[in-house]
Amino acid sequence: MEKRPETSPKAGPLLPEILDRWSPRAFNPERIISESEKYGILESVRWGASSGNNQPWKIAWIDREDARFEEFVDSGLMPGNAVWAKNSSALLVVATEIERDRKELDRAFYTTGLALGQALMQIQYVGLFSHHMSGIFTDKIVEFLELGENHVVDAVVAIGEIDDANTLPAELAERELTPRSRRSLEEIVVYGL
Ligand SMILES: Cc1cc2nc3c(=O)[nH]c(=O)nc-3n(C[C@H](O)[C@H](O)[C@H](O)COP(=O)(O)O)c2cc1C
Repeated sequence: MEKRPETSPKAGPLLPEILDRWSPRAFNPERIISESEKYGILESVRWGASSGNNQPWKIAWIDREDARFEEFVDSGLMPGNAVWAKNSSALLVVATEIERDRKELDRAFYTTGLALGQALMQIQYVGLFSHHMSGIFTDKIVEFLELGENHVVDAVVAIGEIDDANTLPAELAERELTPRSRRSLEEIVVYGL
């Protein structure tokens, strides 16, 4: 489905990956992500910028072919997300290492988000879609991944091929078709517009 938004007439061309990205819930459960798609996404995180090159991002790839995929969906995702995310091809857990060698890592959360922004563009670039989730059970995910105390789980991202909205329960299908909206530039640019 096309949900390309309108942008300011003053704006030059934007990357198609920015224009075409949105967060669907209807994913094709048959789609298997290839090794090259997966490694491309992982590399897109790896090559993010970071303060002093401190690279605070940590990610886990839970493929739907993984024997523990279902267990992860049931224990790690809130039910309102699990209902549609179970059809995605992979779930990317995003965590931030906040402390290393007993020193706080500068701008750690900001930096992980920045790297994930790149990943969303890479996902879009290979024709897949992503949907971030903070409706997750972080304690369960920490337990599942055996993460140390110096890590914070930020989000889980569902990745997959978009499917028809009518594969979803009626209420979710309606949300799927709603046009995208954003606050205006006047509301977000505090100086220099
Ligand atoms: C950090 C973060 C957490 C989010 N958590 C959820 C979530 O738990 N469930 C959900 O359906 N969408 C979630 N979203 C998706 C947002 O609702 C969505 O990005 C926003 O409405 C803008 O829509 P768009 O991504 O389609 O442009 C989350 C997005 C982000 C960035």
